[in-house]
Amino acid sequence: MNVRISHTASAQKFLEDASGLLNDQGNPRAKALIYRILRDSVNIIEDLQVTPQEFWKAVNYLNELGTRQEAGLLVAGLGLEHYLDLLMDAEDEQAGKAGGTPRTIEGPLYVAGAPLADGFARLDDGVDPGVVLFMQGQVKNTDGTPLAGAVVDVWHANTGGTYSYFDGSQSEFNLRRRIVTDAEGRYRFQSIVPSGYGCPPDGPTQQLLDQLGRHGQRPAHIHFFISADDHRHLTTQINLDGDQYLHDDFAYATRDELIARITFSDDQQRAAEHGVSGRFAEIDFDFTLQSTAQPQEQQRSERVRALEA
Ligand SMILES: [Fe+2]
Repeated sequence: MNVRISHTASAQKFLEDASGLLNDQGNPRAKALIYRILRDSVNIIEDLQVTPQEFWKAVNYLNELGTRQEAGLLVAGLGLEHYLDLLMDAEDEQAGKAGGTPRTIEGPLYVAGAPLADGFARLDDGVDPGVVLFMQGQVKNTDGTPLAGAVVDVWHANTGGTYSYFDGSQSEFNLRRRIVTDAEGRYRFQSIVPSGYGCPPDGPTQQLLDQLGRHGQRPAHIHFFISADDHRHLTTQINLDGDQYLHDDFAYATRDELIARITFSDDQQRAAEHGVSGRFAEIDFDFTLQSTAQPQEQQRSERVRALEA
């Protein structure tokens, strides 16, 4: 028998009291959100007849998620971070803000304050024996005008699929740089070809994905924040073509316009022109930004990030 009490006046009043709606202190927005969360929670408990064992398992899961710092990973894996992108896309469409390179998720591994370079930067510290990568392109306005002085803030994983700062074995800001575009809006960098990666196999995110019958793997990708005066901030990634998880990303970040062709070359004459030897890879990718007069649209979204002041 499914016993329900959430519809009763006393239960409603109880939830209002618990969310602070019956006092005049605190924050009205927080109260509205918590009231909704409590109401929806009791509906889930009653609708799905959640047992006390299941309830306490979920509470313990949240503790586990916090201890392992995986909440940011879980919201990516459950597609909620991608859902925010879809919602912002729909808002843009309604507001007539079309065009430009599509946005996609930031993920939880950005670190603020990477070294700033003009036009060109080398991202890797030379320790990782990965294939040398040269990536270059132009930052432009949707009307095709090159944007000089734009900032290409780039970060990616090493060949082990881990990120500096979060992987303490890598040097500071390894595979992270901010590159200011030249007079033609061009940026260029040397790095190593990143690997795809998966959720920590023993962590709570993977544990939940296992329950859903899903894997926790991402295709190889490179993250970017692109910003320029009088233009909308862009949070995006490129995915390397040919990766087995290209269209099966557990975080749903792949978008057709963001698939970058990567070409590998063993031409030693060209390698020498690049100042390297052995096999190397190249990616050409341009970023297009929408104009805006709104200062707030020129900034990245507010959230807690490593080393962000
Ligand atoms: Fe990533």
